[in-house]
Amino acid sequence: MPAGFVKLVVTSPPYNLGKPYESRLDLDEYLAQQRQVIAECVRVLNDRGSICWQVGNYVDNGEIIPLDIVLYPIFASFGLHLRNRIVWHFGHGLHASKRFSGRYEVVLWFTKTNEYVFNLDAVRIPQKYPQKRYFKGPKKGELSSNPLGKNPSDVWEIPNVKANHIEKTVHPCQFPVELIERLVLAMTGEHDWVLDPFMGVGTTAIAALMHNRRAIGAEIMAEYVQIAHERIYQADQGTLRIRPMTRSVYDPETPTVNVPPQVVRLGSPLLQPQLFENSSSYSTQEEAE
Ligand SMILES: C[S@@+](CC[C@H](N)C(=O)[O-])C[C@H]1O[C@@H](n2cnc3c(N)ncnc32)[C@H](O)[C@@H]1O
Repeated sequence: MPAGFVKLVVTSPPYNLGKPYESRLDLDEYLAQQRQVIAECVRVLNDRGSICWQVGNYVDNGEIIPLDIVLYPIFASFGLHLRNRIVWHFGHGLHASKRFSGRYEVVLWFTKTNEYVFNLDAVRIPQKYPQKRYFKGPKKGELSSNPLGKNPSDVWEIPNVKANHIEKTVHPCQFPVELIERLVLAMTGEHDWVLDPFMGVGTTAIAALMHNRRAIGAEIMAEYVQIAHERIYQADQGTLRIRPMTRSVYDPETPTVNVPPQVVRLGSPLLQPQLFENSSSYSTQEEAE
């Protein structure tokens, strides 16, 4: 891939836990491998681009090592700028018996430079009190909160993809599409390239294609690549169902008040060329923004 090619790298790497797709390594060896992948991601990243590295804990003999803590120095050594450490909070997972059950992971959001794409208006969420107005002072009577909605903050409550989730495939730890949609909308523009170097069953690609971005990725397990192809095909046919971004987390008090599953619709198929069939004809896209 050419240098400066992608606007967003978003991924969840193997956590070195001995899942079916990884062999457990010594932590130093794991970090050395991650450094190699991160170096390439930095090389292909556009100057206005972002890297989002979603990780949880490495667990060794019952002791946890938060991977964002040990990975941060690698990103910093490439001169990247940390903008947020987003806490992704979810409700389901294994029940621990010798420590509190883990119910969050993090997304480290880095930018390559100080001039970076951040479309906050594209990802605002509803205000708690949208009709609230200033009651005194020069703005008395005017709406006191942004009518476009509020900043979603750096704590995101999004269900993880477990057995009952509508997006569940055989993959043991796939992204929910809505998690990646928010990053894609905030950090890229239409037609930009989005890269996932550990693509799994193609969730990043689906979130990117849904919003008229272009997608590229790598995955070592043929079975997951096949499922990614099938999901993208279903999305293209209008039969892939996902949990919508606008759906609130299940509330037992109001179980019937909710947004139904959404059917994915892709943008123009012309937006996704066959990169490796014509690689010499692609160049970095830097439109005026
Ligand atoms: C945490 S999962 C990512 C799942 C993905 N976010 C999704 O939504 O499906 C990590 C993925 O990295 C893949 N992987 C492991 N080593 C790899 C390598 N050297 N190159 C490419 N992919 C690899 C695994 O097979 C696994 O699917």
